[in-house]
Amino acid sequence: MADTATPNVIRRADYAPPAFLIDTVALEFDLVPERTVVRNTMRVRRNPDASHAANLELMGEQLEFVSAVIDGAPFANAHAHEHGLTLDNVPDDFELTLTSICNPAENTTLSGLYVSGGNFFTQCEAEGFRRITYFLDRPDVMATFTVTLRASKADYPVLLSNGNLLEEGDLPDGRHFARWEDPFRKPSYLFALVAGKLVALEERVKSGSGKEKLLQVWVEPHDLDKTRHAMDSLINSIRWDEARFGLELDLDRFMIVAVSDFNMGAMENKGLNIFNTKYVLANPETATDTDFANIEAVVGHEYFHNWTGNRVTCRDWFQLSLKEGLTVFRDQEFSADMAGGATDEAARATKRIEDVRVLRQMQFAEDAGPMAHPVRPESYVEINNFYTMTVYEKGSEVVRMYQTQFGRDGFRKGMDLYFKRHDGQAVTCDDFRHALADANGRDLAQFERWYSQAGTPRVSVRTKYDAAQQRYSVTLTQGYGDGAPAARETQKGPLLIPFAIGLIGKDGADLPLQLEGEAKASGCTTRVLDFTQTEQTFTFVNVAEEPLPSLLRNFSAPVIVEYDYSADQLAFLLAHDSDPFNRWEAGQRLATRELLTLAGRAATGVPLQLDDSVVAAFARVLTDESLSPSFRELALMLPSEAYLAEQMAESNPAAVHAARQFVRKRLANALRKDWLAVYEKHRTPGAYEATPEASGHRALKNLALSYLAELDDPAEAVRLASAQYDAANNMTDRSAALSALLNAAAANGGSVEAQQALDDFYRRFEKEPLVIDKWFALQATQRGSAQRPVIEIVRKLMAHPAFNLKNPNRARSLIFSFCAANPAQFHAEDGSGYAFWADQVIALDAINPQVAARLARSLELWRRFTPTLRDGMRAALEKVASQVKSRDVREIVEKALA
Ligand code: TRP
Ligand code: ZN
Repeated sequence: MADTATPNVIRRADYAPPAFLIDTVALEFDLVPERTVVRNTMRVRRNPDASHAANLELMGEQLEFVSAVIDGAPFANAHAHEHGLTLDNVPDDFELTLTSICNPAENTTLSGLYVSGGNFFTQCEAEGFRRITYFLDRPDVMATFTVTLRASKADYPVLLSNGNLLEEGDLPDGRHFARWEDPFRKPSYLFALVAGKLVALEERVKSGSGKEKLLQVWVEPHDLDKTRHAMDSLINSIRWDEARFGLELDLDRFMIVAVSDFNMGAMENKGLNIFNTKYVLANPETATDTDFANIEAVVGHEYFHNWTGNRVTCRDWFQLSLKEGLTVFRDQEFSADMAGGATDEAARATKRIEDVRVLRQMQFAEDAGPMAHPVRPESYVEINNFYTMTVYEKGSEVVRMYQTQFGRDGFRKGMDLYFKRHDGQAVTCDDFRHALADANGRDLAQFERWYSQAGTPRVSVRTKYDAAQQRYSVTLTQGYGDGAPAARETQKGPLLIPFAIGLIGKDGADLPLQLEGEAKASGCTTRVLDFTQTEQTFTFVNVAEEPLPSLLRNFSAPVIVEYDYSADQLAFLLAHDSDPFNRWEAGQRLATRELLTLAGRAATGVPLQLDDSVVAAFARVLTDESLSPSFRELALMLPSEAYLAEQMAESNPAAVHAARQFVRKRLANALRKDWLAVYEKHRTPGAYEATPEASGHRALKNLALSYLAELDDPAEAVRLASAQYDAANNMTDRSAALSALLNAAAANGGSVEAQQALDDFYRRFEKEPLVIDKWFALQATQRGSAQRPVIEIVRKLMAHPAFNLKNPNRARSLIFSFCAANPAQFHAEDGSGYAFWADQVIALDAINPQVAARLARSLELWRRFTPTLRDGMRAALEKVASQVKSRDVREIVEKALA
């Protein structure tokens, strides 16, 4: 008997090929919300490369079994059970027809077949297909699919599935049908269907080889005016994949469909991508510049999966980063190329900085907690819990390191070989590494550790200048620090770290670089050191003066660099480093150090003060009009409270908030004139433009507004923000103004202006769910005060008629925003935030375990917090652990409490 107390752990080491293979699948759907009948006819045969099994074990969940037919004859030895269907003593090669029934109307999990807004949608990754029909629902079983959809023509005029439309027509009783065929073999997680009242923006384009392609973006009729940007992003993605990787769209038709009830961002189903509306719908009035950028990135991401994920897929879910890390890398490069082409390093750096900020804030934290896991995990309880920052973002950094070592051309050669070897296959991360290694004639055995070791590596740096010999030596040491126990278990040895470095002279210019043993200086002023041992010294020769090192340029590896820079040296790097990423990095280091010192003081009640030199360093960036606005915005934005709290020996959100607010106020008051000047200078009057330049101006201007809202006397900021709110012709400016109004008023418990703007915002956008999400989120993330804690506002909003726990976007906009993006308020000393969190995790668990499990993760770092908070956090975790039913949430809270 299985031990029901411990959930089943799935281990990578236990992988075995499937006993049977399925070559073709013909699906027939009679779509009815409460009772959809699915007929599934498969060609099944024994797998010659697997050990023999007499019985065929198919997965199935929440299905009502109707019948099984083998080679035309009813099959009596089929037994339906909780996990699927067992067919006893089947032949070696046969046709199997299964009929079953599911209930899409009642499916609140948004996995499998479900109804949203009266339309049908599917979500099959990772294991949703088994909620539609019995199947070998694992990615190494690849089949070609034919799909017939039948439904009421009035209620569901549009019927879509993967691939190409074969035929459509009318049926008796007001019904109609459509038949689709996907010519490419695919795993079941890439299956999709959509049925309902939808309209499409269409465009025809010619692919690289001259074939015509039909592109469609399907939405509800009232959203058609918000599809242009997604379509443009799709066309740009198609062009980019052809130009950069020589990869062409392989179907005649490519469809994107937007749905408002969706668990994640989007899904790369073959030829029929299904998207969260958040990553499709945009026009200047409803979407911010960030939304526009996210749409471009996600449309690119899903499109790029067509090759990296679909044509070559994963053998098993432990290999998830094979497709996700690689595809994130591809979408990051796409966005960087769209912003700055191949050569505008400053524009590319903006994207790089944003990506690294996310990695550090989210992935480093994950790697330090109970959910720490390698890029290729060794085990899981619920695979949906492993669509993580580590698999996606660290995975992308691992892929980026191949390119850093081999260059763009070498990386391309590796990709070409990967497709040559593995097109049409389900493969592993090792297969990818071997292709990259073989194409470049390199042994990458050591590089495998990036896939198998968890935790964030630390590289400490010591330098020594020998003036007489003109030698400069750089000694690098790598290790992992204390880290999480889960991570420590995996750490076996040193990593291959491509460590990019430059040396900067007294005048701020890069020095020539000549390593010991080289005949002459190389032309490059950045070198990528092959750092492979626990400790290694690299010596530069003919170094005419003592340099300042610029370390880990462009963040060449996902590690923490430890080096004792003085504050003056950081200010110098911030002013001079030729590597734009490291210029930003110097400012962040400077700010982080000051903020952590101040947080330490705040925690012990010592008065706070900030050195004038720090203010001066920031003033230089603020007033340097030679720097791009977007760079200045990033450089002047302080590290987030969550990131800072993570850096403390014991996280203290209140102390971090006090310190960060103190610095923001100090910078606001000391540089008031400069902020005002920047605010005026970077206005973007006239029609809205979505260019990177225009959005850079808006970002800097709105950052200035947010600082001005910190002034001791906020009257001026309130005046500016109110005027900006009223005059705005775009959502970026309108929401920034609203946020400034909310925060300027926070200390006084709110203001008339803030309340008026909030009310206006709601009325104005009542019919735009994505904008109402912003309305909830802005309130949940606002600053609070003793007389007006944000939890009270959040509780009230939970009862607002527009709130709906079943819609993930809405739940995220209010609950997640408060629990994960307002740390100072969420971690209130009285534990009110934790009690609220527990109630919401429990409520969501009954509706949608995937979403509940995401929320459950916001307390996983509880052991790292200041002792006064820990008890409340543990009590909340224990309450959740004792009440939730889903495997998803149990895995999270049990790991947190272990
Ligand atoms: N494969 C999707 C992507 O990265 C993400 C994904 C996995 C997903 N599981 C999902 C999306 C469930 C929606 C729902 O693009
Ligand atoms: Zn993906």
